Amino acid sequence: MKMNITCIPGDGIGPEIVTQAKKVLDKVCEVYGHEITYKDVLMGGCSIDAFGVPLTDETIEAAKSADAVLMGSIGGNTSTSPWYKLEPSKRPEAGLLGIRKALGLFANLRPAYLYPQLKEACPLKEAAAEKGFDMLIMRELTGGLYFGERYTREIEGEITACDTLIYKESEIRRIAVKAFEVARKRRKSVISVDKANVLDSSRLWRKVVNEVSEDYPDVKLEHMLVDNCAMQLVRDPAQFDVVLTENMFGDILSDEASMITGSIGMLPSASLANGSFGLYEPSHGSAPDIAGKDIANPIATVLSAAMMLRYSFNLDKEADAIEGAVRKVLEEGYRTVDLLGSAEGSSFKRVGCKEMGDLLVERIAVV
Ligand code: NAD
Ligand code: IPM
Ligand code: MN
Repeated sequence: MKMNITCIPGDGIGPEIVTQAKKVLDKVCEVYGHEITYKDVLMGGCSIDAFGVPLTDETIEAAKSADAVLMGSIGGNTSTSPWYKLEPSKRPEAGLLGIRKALGLFANLRPAYLYPQLKEACPLKEAAAEKGFDMLIMRELTGGLYFGERYTREIEGEITACDTLIYKESEIRRIAVKAFEVARKRRKSVISVDKANVLDSSRLWRKVVNEVSEDYPDVKLEHMLVDNCAMQLVRDPAQFDVVLTENMFGDILSDEASMITGSIGMLPSASLANGSFGLYEPSHGSAPDIAGKDIANPIATVLSAAMMLRYSFNLDKEADAIEGAVRKVLEEGYRTVDLLGSAEGSSFKRVGCKEMGDLLVERIAVV
């Protein structure tokens, strides 16, 4: 197969981790007889430095004309980087939100799976880590608080800031359908997370999700309030299969879910539009504190590339090969520093970003 991929390495550790994912993809192509053409474009802070804006029309066009987009991460230190002295619409994150909207990427799939090899890196009680977990967070990505009206202005002599959490029925329905469809291919359970005891947007969310569930009698649906969900994720993560939730809740819960897999460096994501197009990126950020040190964990990005093969190109065997390589490398005891925690100095073999990429490449084989 011939694949046209637009790459957005971005800022901070972005270029380091995308380089590893490309190496792994190239090896997959060599082994399975495919061909990838890459086009690299700027977005985020590097685009601000080059063009004065975080997202150019050229970058949007390059993304639209590709079969899929592979991204690293964007942004800098939000306290110290000069990018955060710019007005909000010119900052790196505005680029990411802009491209999600421009490409219609309303469904963000964030699978949180505890590799058995990483049990000791899981910060939960031994019993929970022993049981393991395998959940998929289905996060709505182009609505809610992120895209509602916002302002900061003086009202009655006081500076007042306002963000609006807004959802239309159709936006809820299409993400709910995605969640139920995916659940059918998994363990047939959806837990929809909201704050229906307080928010109107959540009450509408619950009503629409209930309606959609009528078309999926084979899938079990439960509703859970978001504060309880945050607690349940660390008490008993095995109870979750598909977690369906709105944009902001999904952002926060997916960082929490990433940590119980051992590290935020393990959590991939796929942001899908209708059809086969998608943008694939790790769930974590640009980690400015460790950028340029060759210590970032590239696995979330490599697993995002596997999701790209699976969701945009239907290449399941090839995606399995990447996931198999990750499993092998972990089994053999290789760890980037984020996965070591208190196990530092133990029998694990500490490796850097590039070396982890090399080890993964060596383990890509026909499955
Ligand atoms: P972050 O996810 O970048 O980092 C949080 C912590 O996790 C840091 O200590 C970092 O070193 C560590 N970490 C993250 N990824 C890692 C990896 N692959 N390997 C090892 N350690 C890793 O979050 P932050 O510090 O709050 O945000 C930094 C910047 O990233 C901000 O500008 C933020 O807006 C941006 N951001 C971008 C994306 C994205 O591009 N999708 C996502 C989240 C945050
Ligand atoms: C993510 C990030 C983004 C989000 C930021 C950088 C805008 O945190 O992809 O999880 O909040 O969606
Ligand atoms: Mn986030």
